[in-house]
Formats: sequence, C-alpha cells, structure tokens
Amino acid sequence: MTVLSNLAQPGVLSNPTTHAEYMTFVLEQRLDTNHLSAQIAHCLAKLDVITKSINQKDLDASLTISIGFSANAWPQLFPSMPMPAQLQPFTEMRDGTRVFPATAGDIFVMIKSNRIDLNFQAAKLVMRDLQAIAELIEDIQGYKYLDNRDMIDFVDGTENPSGDERVEAVLVQQDIELHQGGSYLTTQRYVDNLDKWEAQHTEYQEQVIGRTKMDNVELDDDVKPAWAHNAKSKVEIDDVEIKMLRQNRPWGNAKEHGTFFVGFASTPEIINTSLKQMIFADDNGDYDRLLDFVDAKTGAIYFMPSATFLGQFDD
Ligand code: HEM
Repeated sequence: MTVLSNLAQPGVLSNPTTHAEYMTFVLEQRLDTNHLSAQIAHCLAKLDVITKSINQKDLDASLTISIGFSANAWPQLFPSMPMPAQLQPFTEMRDGTRVFPATAGDIFVMIKSNRIDLNFQAAKLVMRDLQAIAELIEDIQGYKYLDNRDMIDFVDGTENPSGDERVEAVLVQQDIELHQGGSYLTTQRYVDNLDKWEAQHTEYQEQVIGRTKMDNVELDDDVKPAWAHNAKSKVEIDDVEIKMLRQNRPWGNAKEHGTFFVGFASTPEIINTSLKQMIFADDNGDYDRLLDFVDAKTGAIYFMPSATFLGQFDD
C-alpha cells in the first residue's frame, strides 16, 4: 500500500462528477513577485473557505475545487519554494496535419460537483479572488453525457486505475517532501467533428476506439488495429503498463463541442509519451485514428500540489 505523509487534493483522486468547470488563468505581466506571492497566499487561504461554505448548501453535491500551477507561474508565485522536479511547459507536437498546440495557462482551477449552479457560485468567487493577479482566459463547463460517454458516443474512463493503483499512478512520490502527494496534470480541449464521425459505420468507429460501442467491451487483440485509440494511448515500459487517471468530460453545445481531456499522472512524461504515440505516425504510417475526428485546441501542463501544501496558507 502507498503511504504518503501529504494528503492529495480530493478532486485530483476522485472520479469526475456530473458537472465540472475548467478555468484557465494567465498571470498579469508587470506585477512583482512580492505582490504575486502575497496575493496567491491570500487566494489559497480562501479556497478552503469557499469550498466549505458552498458545500454546506448541499453536501450531496460533493463540491471540490482543485488548483494547479504552470512552470512559468511557480517561481513567480512561490519564489521561496523549489519547483516540483518535473514541472515543465507543454511542448507543441505536430505530424502532418495533426497538431497538439501548446497554449497559455498559468493557474488552472477545476471545480467538480453534481450541481452546475454550485459550480457557478464557486467559479464566481474564485475568479473574484484571482483576478487581482491573473486574467481568466478560458472558462469551460463540462458535464456527464449519458452513461459517462464522450460525444462520439463511446464510454470514456473504463480503464482508469482505482484504489491503491490509482494513488500509485497519480501522486508524486519521487520528489522532496514538499511536493509529495502532488500530481502532474495535462489538459487539452478538443473539438469534435461529429458530422465526419457519424458518417462512419459503427464497426469502423469501434476499430478507431478499440472497444465495442454499445457494450463497451475491449476488442480482442487479433481484431484490434494497431491504430486504435486504446492501443496508441496505452503506455508500456518494459512490457509493464503505466497507468494515468483521466477525468475527461464532454463540453459544449450543438454549435461547438468536444472532450476536455484532464489527465493526471505522477510524472508528466507518462502523458507526453501517450500523446507522442497518438500523434506521430509509426514505421507503418499508423497514428491514432481518433485524431481524424477530433482537434486539440489547447494544451498545458500544471502541478497540482498536495492539500497539505495548500493548507500552509490557511488562516
Ligand atoms: C477527444 C479526445 C479523447 C477521447 C474522445 C477519448 C476517448 C477514449 C475512450 C472512449 C476510451 C476507451 C474507454 C476507456 O478506457 O476510457 C479511451 C481510452 C483511453 N484514452 Fe482516450 N480519449 C481522448 C483523448 C485522450 C488523450 C489525449 C489521451 C492521452 C494523453 C488518452 C488516453 C487514453 C488511455 C490511456 C486510454 C485507456 C487505454 C487502455 O488501457 O485501454 N485519451 N479514450
């Protein structure tokens, strides 16, 4: 069993809820480090207060607010604390017409609960506090669709680890004590091309994902193509599978919609490896065929410190 002295942020380890809000902030230029570090300490002290007061309205809503910081933001916000060892910016990946862009994002806030109205209240208060130092450049509301399906109509999240395997996959153990119990998060907002997707036969869609559509059963290895999404995204080192935790949610409306990819791992290298396997064609010209139907619009990496780390700022 994994025993860490620091507690993780609850939203990092828990399953996705019915509603989620993903807020991306960029630090204001021109503010000096003293001001930034004092202001973030004030905001972090209030996060816990906001969470408790909104949760009181409906305990069944299970509201959590999780926060993370980019490699650019860390030294400006926490100048006296060393950077998490593997915190790095997201690097653009490109092959042919397929692109995973690297986009702006210094502070990422993920609000999860079973009520969109409570998420809104939390988001409003978080924005009010953070806007003294950062601009909210993207605010996406995600939601549970059918039985945890993406809008391409396949169940998402089935192969996520659970229990101790999840803790092992998600939380940092190999770093100074300050950063243990934290996690690396990679986010990407995807837009679907549903017209193109829905023009495909179900059999082809099942090959693209590597599972059956209706019953969500994994295809046998002898029929699953090398370019299936669940073949290309799976990370193995020396034949041992290395898991990540995906908390993806669909987002959007009839006009524009897709998947907000939310991937946690104990090192950003796991998700970087998965992304490379997906986008770069291998020696047979095979890449992840899901990428023929979905387009990544954003890409960023954050470190989500432990709850113990955040607790040092409590009043
Ligand atoms: C539009 C974007 C995406 C969609 C719609 C999507 C959808 C799915 C679906 C339906 C599955 C099969 C069920 C499951 O095990 O969850 C799956 C599996 C998986 N996906 Fe994605 N995914 C997307 C992006 C990504 C990205 C960007 C990554 C990695 C960086 C990723 C990593 C994985 C992994 C590791 C699995 C499990 C593979 C296995 O062990 O079987 N996915 N995804």
